[in-house]
Amino acid sequence: MTIELLPQKSGPQISKYIYGQFSEHLGNGIYGSLYVGKNSKIPNVNGMRSDVVNALKKIHVPALRWPGGLFADTYHWVDGIGPMDTRKKIVNTNWGDVTENNHFGTHEYFELLHQLGADAYINANIGSGTVQEMAEWVEYMTMPGESPMANLRRKNGRQDPWRVKFFGIGNESWGGGGNMRPEYYSDVYRQYQTFMPQYDKDHPIYKVACGPNEDDYNWTDTVMKYAGKYLDGISLHFYTLPKGTWGQNKGDATDFPESEWDSTMTRAKHMDELITRHSTIMDKYDPEKRVNLIVDEWGTWFDVEKGTNPGFLHQQNTIRDAMVAAINLNIFQKHADRVYMANIAQMVNVLQSMILTKGDKMIKTPTYYVFDMYQKHMDAEFVEGVGEVPENVTYAASQKDGKLTISICNYDAHDSKDVNFVGIKPFKAIDSAKILTANKLDAHNTFDDPDEVVEKDFSGATLNDEGLSMDLPSKSVVTITVK
Ligand code: AHR
Repeated sequence: MTIELLPQKSGPQISKYIYGQFSEHLGNGIYGSLYVGKNSKIPNVNGMRSDVVNALKKIHVPALRWPGGLFADTYHWVDGIGPMDTRKKIVNTNWGDVTENNHFGTHEYFELLHQLGADAYINANIGSGTVQEMAEWVEYMTMPGESPMANLRRKNGRQDPWRVKFFGIGNESWGGGGNMRPEYYSDVYRQYQTFMPQYDKDHPIYKVACGPNEDDYNWTDTVMKYAGKYLDGISLHFYTLPKGTWGQNKGDATDFPESEWDSTMTRAKHMDELITRHSTIMDKYDPEKRVNLIVDEWGTWFDVEKGTNPGFLHQQNTIRDAMVAAINLNIFQKHADRVYMANIAQMVNVLQSMILTKGDKMIKTPTYYVFDMYQKHMDAEFVEGVGEVPENVTYAASQKDGKLTISICNYDAHDSKDVNFVGIKPFKAIDSAKILTANKLDAHNTFDDPDEVVEKDFSGATLNDEGLSMDLPSKSVVTITVK
């Protein structure tokens, strides 16, 4: 099948923040995996685990959402500052009732961001916190001059303010974040954002309101109506559940029938409809598209791995997850005019992660390699395509620095696909071509076999006067750059 690309037609910029990440105080998502503490035998820099940080640096994490998720609405930031031995030990009531010693707090978060080269996306506590608590946290982090909170920050070892790029006011306020109605939440949002200080006038903090759960279109409509002019972005949460239902029988991450491969793909593709419909509602109040959609929780959610704490949301990651990642990233790119950030849940050891750790070992997941390949689209210009796409194939194209990059996903469980891209005459040679694929539907990496599913060079594409043609194996993601 032939697809015509239109690189001469200008398109929106694909924000690099679409490749954002999320780390919550949840299971082994932070402790033991990102943060091991300065005295750990595991090699670390200022407490941050070196092998994991080095792997993440390669995918250039643009922003990291923290401290939750549900945890955010129980988190009191003052518990996580000051000498480690005086930090309050609390119970993580959302995730397994385990003790949270608050050793990873504000200073540690910014140290991690510094090592990753990522921007901050902090979620405030509006569920069980106060307006004053939120305002003081922002003052603590960002006030450059003399003030009670800035002085406290200095006492704790940090002279200069940090930069907070994104700030979320509420997480799932329609559910675990307060069970609010959208009318009530809109007023709460308006109140909180009124008292959110903006000390750095050159870099105002970008305000994200709690958006809908999946297809709750009334939530989007109401929040846009009552609070739309006070916000920069509104979030959307949508997880890929193989069977589309919550509860104890969501489906296994590795041991699944082929029907669940198919239903997982169908569910992943639903993201397109959700974004389209929420965005259409937003258009009613914001036709200029000033307000962005921020998909700050997405990814696969399976039953937890057998033998692990049910509250830790630990799951394996197969080539199926890689397909879900590519399908979603292609959708976000297609909606680059509205989607400014997305944060896959979650970066390490939780749900659809980039990395899994066990003691001092770590592996990269198939999802990690998709994020690695898709880096070429970061901040590039979206390139539109027309023509029929083969069944079970999605793609996205972009251009940057005189090069064109196309990412294609053939999520067919059995069949390879021939695809031909035309309209790219100015580009004369293949610059790079990578593939991620596997023979089995449940192929994944383990601590004993960490390289079962890895990105490889792809030799199945040809560029000539007829266009760029390729033979895509089943269950594959390919990224090709031409120059
Ligand atoms: O990502 C796990 C949880 O899913 C988050 O804490 C919550 O916001 C969502 O329900």
